[in-house]
Amino acid sequence: MDIVILAGGSGSRMNSNIAKVLQKIAGQSFLSHLIKTAKNLNPNQIVIIQAQNVDLQSLYKNEGLGGDCEFKNLVWLNQQSPKGTADAVQISLPALNSENTLILYGDVPLITGSTLANLNQSHQSNNADITLLTKKIKNPFGYGRIVRNKKNEIIKICEQKDADETTLKIREINTGLMIVKTEVLKKYLKQIKNNGAQKEYYLTDIIELAVLNNLKIDSTNPNLKFEVDGVNSQFQLEKLERKFQKYKANQLLLKNTTLLDKKRIDIRGNLTCNKDVVIDINCIFEGEVKLDDGVKIGANCIIKNSHIQKNTQILPNSIIENSTIGQNNSIGPFARIRPETNTQDNVKIGNFVEVKKSTINSESKLNHLSYVGDSQIGKRVNIGAGVITCNYDGTKKHQSIIDDDCFIGSGSQLIAPIHLAKNTLVGAGSSLNKDTDENTLNLTRATLVSKKRR
Ligand code: UD1
Ligand code: CA
Repeated sequence: MDIVILAGGSGSRMNSNIAKVLQKIAGQSFLSHLIKTAKNLNPNQIVIIQAQNVDLQSLYKNEGLGGDCEFKNLVWLNQQSPKGTADAVQISLPALNSENTLILYGDVPLITGSTLANLNQSHQSNNADITLLTKKIKNPFGYGRIVRNKKNEIIKICEQKDADETTLKIREINTGLMIVKTEVLKKYLKQIKNNGAQKEYYLTDIIELAVLNNLKIDSTNPNLKFEVDGVNSQFQLEKLERKFQKYKANQLLLKNTTLLDKKRIDIRGNLTCNKDVVIDINCIFEGEVKLDDGVKIGANCIIKNSHIQKNTQILPNSIIENSTIGQNNSIGPFARIRPETNTQDNVKIGNFVEVKKSTINSESKLNHLSYVGDSQIGKRVNIGAGVITCNYDGTKKHQSIIDDDCFIGSGSQLIAPIHLAKNTLVGAGSSLNKDTDENTLNLTRATLVSKKRR
């Protein structure tokens, strides 16, 4: 099938300069969510309808919205002005060349692949012309209503603004998502008129035309409650974010992860937890995060695209990004682990330590107030309080290599590039700019001057 994503609306109801589909939910733009879900259905192509004045394609590519533009069959088409959902689909018609077309709405971001696969399956097996995704909800305000006849057949979709009292009472809503035989779209879309209350060309009017022409209309329902929620305002966006986070937290609890408060965790991506993981309050997990058996995450931690191995403890207020932390480590409190850091087993990184692009071998300790960047640190190394690897000369970054069993006294600076050979001892307060030999004591220290005060 082909998939069309309608992302050309003006977004005026959000009162924002950002195109609605670039608003974020669970850390990713609506568009990223939809393209990812659409790709997983292996469509022939994905056609995105964008507003003429917003170059979604470039924004999506450049702004690191968590999107993957590499899918070669992404087709971006412009809609001159937002004349309605039927007009938006109309623009995609020349590009469509599969038997069926699945239509997704840019502002229904959390639709799941399994619901869409069901929709497609039911459409194919019933040989329907149009299959709508519909749902009964408690408060249908704002949605198009599904009007059925006495035989329970769908005869119409009526928009909120065009509905009379009786229609307003219908609780079955149009989610907006549908799969349609492409030839049906090609034949009937052009017959849709803009005579509704909003003077727009409604895609939903295709139902009445189909009924007139005895086409087969079917419907299925989504698997999850929140996945068809449309977002037209910041209020709805926040509500959907909370519903989604609640769902994610419940998924973790179902797998027996300990969450001290399931309302105070945010997962903006995929968090995989093995056995006996404990997560304290106010933690944020972004991208792909994996926590192995027995990992404990303290309060207020932010962990992004990282793997934390068995029995490691991340103490409160620590930030870890694009890194792998070994087994039995203790990180934090207040540690900052920047991208491309790799620690082996039994490493200790204490408070106010920043580590960047470094490898730290087993049993090494960086307990207080240090900066370690572009470094390779051996086994059983002790980095004293306030040690700094001076890795940047203003133009280039340089490496610090610290071999096994070195001891770096507090307040020392290691001016990179530098190599400290095995078992080097650096006296506290030294500034080293030369490599050292094995088993040596090295120190640079100005002579103390001490005079009586007047
Ligand atoms: C639409 C449906 C309504 C349904 C609801 C579900 C129609 C006429 N109504 O209403 O039945 O219950 O979604 O959330 O379809 N868009 C364009 N070009 C346009 C207009 C819209 O690309 O000219 C895009 C928007 O960016 C948006 C989507 O289509 O992503 C839906 O448009 P919107 O105006 O939000 O429709 P609703 O009023 O929410
Ligand atoms: Ca909408």
